[in-house]
This record gives sequence, C-alpha cells and structure tokens, in this order.
Amino acid sequence: MRQTLDAHDAPSRPLRERVFSGIQPSGASHLGNYLGAQVNYVAMQEEFETIYGIVDYHALTTVHDGAELRRLTHEMVLDLLAVGLDPQRCALIRQSDLPEHAELAWIFNTVVPVSWVERTPTYKEKRQQGVENSMGLLDYPVLQAADIVIYKATRVPVGKDQAAHLELSREIVRAFNRRYGPIFPEPEPVFTEVPVVLGTDGATKMSKSAGNTIPIFAEPDEIRRLVMNMVTDRQRIRRSDPGRPEICNVCQLHRFFGSDYLQIQDGERTARTGCVDTKQLLAERIIEFFRPMRAERARLAADPAVVEETLAAGRAKVRPILEATTAEVRQLVGIGPRRAP
Ligand code: TRP
Repeated sequence: MRQTLDAHDAPSRPLRERVFSGIQPSGASHLGNYLGAQVNYVAMQEEFETIYGIVDYHALTTVHDGAELRRLTHEMVLDLLAVGLDPQRCALIRQSDLPEHAELAWIFNTVVPVSWVERTPTYKEKRQQGVENSMGLLDYPVLQAADIVIYKATRVPVGKDQAAHLELSREIVRAFNRRYGPIFPEPEPVFTEVPVVLGTDGATKMSKSAGNTIPIFAEPDEIRRLVMNMVTDRQRIRRSDPGRPEICNVCQLHRFFGSDYLQIQDGERTARTGCVDTKQLLAERIIEFFRPMRAERARLAADPAVVEETLAAGRAKVRPILEATTAEVRQLVGIGPRRAP
C-alpha cells in the first residue's frame, strides 16, 4: 500500500524533504497564525512530506484547565482542517499522543546548558507578561527542538516570532551531534512573505496573550467589530488629515486581501478615503476570504468523529519514523536494552 508519508520506505531517510511544524492549542486561530504560518503549512503539503503537530504539552505551560485544553485542542484540529490541511497528504498529530517527543526533550535537557534557555527572548517576554515561571516554560524551546528533530525534519514553517527558537533548535542539534555523532540534520525555518502581523492595537504582534487578535473563524459581525475598533494612525485625527499607510495596520492588512492595495494606500495618503471606509472594506474582505473555510469548518464540526479519526491517522503515519529515531537515540546514548546488532 502506498502511503503519502515516505515513512515506510526508510524512516530515517525520507524520499522528500520532511517538514514539521507545531501549533499551540492556546486559542482560536487568528490572522497572525494564518498569514504568518498556516498559509505555508497548506502550501508545503504539495511538495514535501509534512507533519503538523498540535503541541498540547507546550500549551500546559499556559493553559491550566484540563477541560479547556482538551476543548482548545479539538478546536485547533478543526481550524487546521478548515484552512486546508489535507489528512491524505499531511500527518496531523497531537503531540501528547506521541510521548517520545517528551523523552527526546529530556535527553536534550542533558545536553543543553541552562544559559541557552534562560536567554531565549520568548522566555523573557512570557515572564514579563506574568506567565508562571515553571520549569516547563524554561524548557519550552527544548521540547520544540525535540518535536522537529524526532522526525529529522529539515524545514519548519513558522512565524517570524519563532526565529530565535529555531536558532536554538539548531544549536541543540549541533551540541547533540558533537556529543554522540552526526545523526540529526539542522532544521531551517521557512517564513511567509508577511512581516510580523500586528494586532488590532497596531502596536504589538497579534497574539492571544496580548488580546489583540482577529480570529479567522469569528462570526462576521465580530470580525466587523474587531476591525472597526482597530487602532490606525494615531496622528490622523480628522477625516481630512492625510494618513500614513506605512504605519496604519489596516492599510497593511489590505495587502493580503485584494490586489488594489496601492490604490487603498493612495486613498489614505491623500485623505480621499477615511479610516472608516478602509476598515469597512477590510472587514468585508476578511469575511469573504474566510467564508469557504468557515463553511468547511462548520461541516467538519458536525461530525463528532472527525477529529479523533484525523489524529489516529496522523499518529499511525508518523509512528514508524518516530520509533526509528527513538531506537537510534536510545542505542546511541546507552539507555534501554541493547539492540540486536
Ligand atoms: N513555539 C511554537 C509557537 O508558539 C509552537 C511549536 C512547538 C513549534 N513545537 C514546534 C513550532 C516545533 C515549530 C516546530 O508557535
């Protein structure tokens, strides 16, 4: 039987380059997630052997209610299927179904100096946001490295905010390979065209924790409300004041939802259009853009079995890869029974 993953040919040497990315089930998918990474998840299915993980172990660092985490994980599967992940072509997995990720993270922990994780920018940011300073929070990027490397993935579609984590993953691979031999490839990030997507406050990266998101599957009226409340150019006070589209986040978002972006910019710069016009247009375009995906999501959500079936299929596809790597690593570092020669 021909599988879409190349796992069965040679788990440790895939025919196509292998791609892994992880997404935290910590809230509804928003424009930043979609434009920053999910677009590439979908596109890369065509050419590569793709594995996408809903990283619920990671989410434990911030989601502390079991029922809520389970709900968020379920919703994220639906989001990813609706934006176009095709379980025939990719493997969609739930990280906690594959505890070998956590085992490899532990082994990496014995290779990674504490100073490397302490200086991670996201760790410092999360501390500043008041996230509890748990061992898990500190260790977060080590688990992320394990997620990627357990599949020997070489390309990782992520948002630009993940650049430092990917750099750390590469360092971890080098440190492990130095100690035990060259078994892991260094993974490379793959970014989308978009600069970091700013939130509705126009000031910081769009993120759940900043409370400035536009969820892509929100009800149309909710999308209208969120867009109409976006902070634009604070210096543009009167309708007749010329705008500065380069700093207006509404203008910037128009780039991704229509081909007349330059005209829109021009309208703002010359005060031919006002912020309200530009926002109304953006809201309608976002709603239109996601309309088919929203319909698909509703269709999927009506089938109570689809989520667990998708995850079971994903799990079955990746098992051989992950078992091969785990056996190889255990043998190399000297844990578990000796393998037959
Ligand atoms: N840290 C990533 C984020 O917040 C999620 C993640 C976990 C991930 N493991 C990964 C991303 C492995 C890429 C590869 O977006």
